[in-house]
Amino acid sequence: MRKIMLLTKNKTSTIFVGADMDIVFELCNKAQAVVITDKNVDLLYGDRFKGVKKVILDCGESHKTLNTVQYVYDNLLKFGCERNNTVIIGIGGGLVCDIAGFVASTFLRGLSFGFVATTLLAQVDAAIGGKNGVNFNGYKNMVGTINQPDFIICDFSTLKTLPAHELSNGMAELIKHAVIGDRELFYEIEKEKKAFLDLDLHRIEPLIVKSMKIKVDIVTRDETERHERRKLNFGHTYGHAIESQFGLSHGEAVSIGMMLETNLSISRGLLEKEALKRIKELLNYFGLPTEMGRINRHILMDAITKDKKKDGNEIYSVLIKGIGNAVIEKVSIKEIRGVLYDMH
Ligand SMILES: NC(=O)c1ccc[n+]([C@@H]2O[C@H](COP(=O)([O-])OP(=O)(O)OC[C@H]3O[C@@H](n4cnc5c(N)ncnc54)[C@H](O)[C@@H]3O)[C@@H](O)[C@H]2O)c1
Ligand SMILES: [Zn+2]
Repeated sequence: MRKIMLLTKNKTSTIFVGADMDIVFELCNKAQAVVITDKNVDLLYGDRFKGVKKVILDCGESHKTLNTVQYVYDNLLKFGCERNNTVIIGIGGGLVCDIAGFVASTFLRGLSFGFVATTLLAQVDAAIGGKNGVNFNGYKNMVGTINQPDFIICDFSTLKTLPAHELSNGMAELIKHAVIGDRELFYEIEKEKKAFLDLDLHRIEPLIVKSMKIKVDIVTRDETERHERRKLNFGHTYGHAIESQFGLSHGEAVSIGMMLETNLSISRGLLEKEALKRIKELLNYFGLPTEMGRINRHILMDAITKDKKKDGNEIYSVLIKGIGNAVIEKVSIKEIRGVLYDMH
């Protein structure tokens, strides 16, 4: 086990990587803990958290709502939680982390909290960085806060029970970090791609940790997303529109979103076609879609033009200036339309 520290203005979060999830009760008093988890994770790992106050959520993105938040608040009231004697522990994937973080940040104006991240996506991405919240009126992550957890535990053994498509979702974010911030890591993932499919933890752990560190470093420099943190939105501005309109999983939608921004980078002359081919092949290797397929371009354009990252007739996009180097540029709706309709 090793520790990575995430230092922001108001908080130091400790990330325990390669740790056993049982260390959670060395970090906080069992009697003061309230575990928030979901039904699947509870079935698999609930035995490890016996005798703890627990709120079990329904699974799936459709439950990432204010109704679910209210359901958790109700339970916290029933448990008699008070500000100074409660630690919220989210045990699960990104959904649980986002809700647990939001509940902890708002209930009684803020409780201590930490995560045990049990999906690859949560380990490399969702659990890190303090963004938490829920969807609202069909818009992704519309209501939320930025507030860092006290601790994050990444127990990589939990990846062994993860369904293959959830592993692919995580790979999308892992590859995203390499494309925006570390060319060497991209090559290493290419080299070790089979080890990822085989879940050869010994080989892939160092690469997972490198991916986490890219996010940690960016968040450390720009917690509130004024400048550099926007790079982490690679694939997401358009991916969110795809996810909400066409019911694809987060990773699948982000994968197509990344291809759209990669194509935009090519049309601006920032990137070689060879790089696009490599990104596409790596995403495809993990079963991630990279083509528009059945996605209706008219509906997508409509959703894109409503996006919150829009500035007049232009959208802040994350473009790639060679693998490992991202830049933020405004792209006109016309340019996006052109590239979108040219994509397969
Ligand atoms: N806050 C952020 O910065 C941030 C970043 C990226 C994504 N997100 C959010 O994260 C969410 C997606 O997270 P996710 O992909 O982890 O999805 P998820 O939390 O819905 O988990 C996916 C599925 O895997 C199950 N599961 C979790 N751990 C398991 C395990 N170890 N073994 C078997 N099954 C397991 C869950 O029950 C669920 O059915 C989205 O809501 C997205 O918006 C947030
Ligand atoms: Zn994401």
